[in-house]
Amino acid sequence: MSLYPSPDLKVTLASCQTKKARGEKITCLTAYDYPFARLFDESGIDILLVGDSWGMAAAGHENTLAVTVEEMLIATRSVRRGARRALIVADMPYGSYHLSVSQAIENAVRFVKEGGAEAIKLEGGERRADIVHALVQAEIPVMSHIGLTPQSVHRQSGYHVQGTSDAAAHQLLQDARALQGAGAFAIVLEGIPRELAAAITREVSIPTIGIGAGPDCDGQVLVLHDLLGLSFRPAAKFARAYADLGPIVRTAAESFREDVENGKFPTDQESYHFPRHSSITIL
Ligand code: KIV
Repeated sequence: MSLYPSPDLKVTLASCQTKKARGEKITCLTAYDYPFARLFDESGIDILLVGDSWGMAAAGHENTLAVTVEEMLIATRSVRRGARRALIVADMPYGSYHLSVSQAIENAVRFVKEGGAEAIKLEGGERRADIVHALVQAEIPVMSHIGLTPQSVHRQSGYHVQGTSDAAAHQLLQDARALQGAGAFAIVLEGIPRELAAAITREVSIPTIGIGAGPDCDGQVLVLHDLLGLSFRPAAKFARAYADLGPIVRTAAESFREDVENGKFPTDQESYHFPRHSSITIL
């Protein structure tokens, strides 16, 4: 029983776990700023992931490796201010947890204290289990991320479907078991065969959130810019665009430009005037 009123309005680790138990799907979108966090929160999305995909989707980087803790903190605070119901998960950028367990804790604490995150996400399987365990011991919930892990872009020789050999598939199953054992509350499964994602989802009792991992995961995540048709790269086959905002934005900007160039913006009604009866004169 909760001490506070309307506990079921807020998405929590427990409510995500309940959704898995009931076979209800968990929804997750990335968000990086206040307006989109508000809109997604008001749309009933369960989890807002402040993903380091920000580096590619919003900052125009080639990959996510250059993203810094400071940049992710600005995004996390903005999302925090826009969301009331959704669970806020902040992505730990490359280099912020790779040096030591204590470095990981130090940075993760910043996401909670300074960013307002309720959980953090980090990439990697069995190899990262000690970090996951230490963060959970420090009261920081962890969402893990295995399969195609964008921070491994060089080691994985680009962005390729993972787990396609017998050994690789078994390793991913083992990764999922190890992460659950270490205390992760959920696991993102990215870019793996549907059958493997289904097997991992059956194997672990914590929710799996898929992206390019087929429909059998406990939930699905999409990147905001893919959802809205604002990506300027060829879309992966799973990245369904639910809107095509590019032409809408372009038309608005073109209309503004034409109106300014033709003296149609602003009009007199859109201008301020001296107070009536004032005696101000301008030389
Ligand atoms: O950074 C991100 O947005 C992610 C999701 C694609 C899972 O890691």
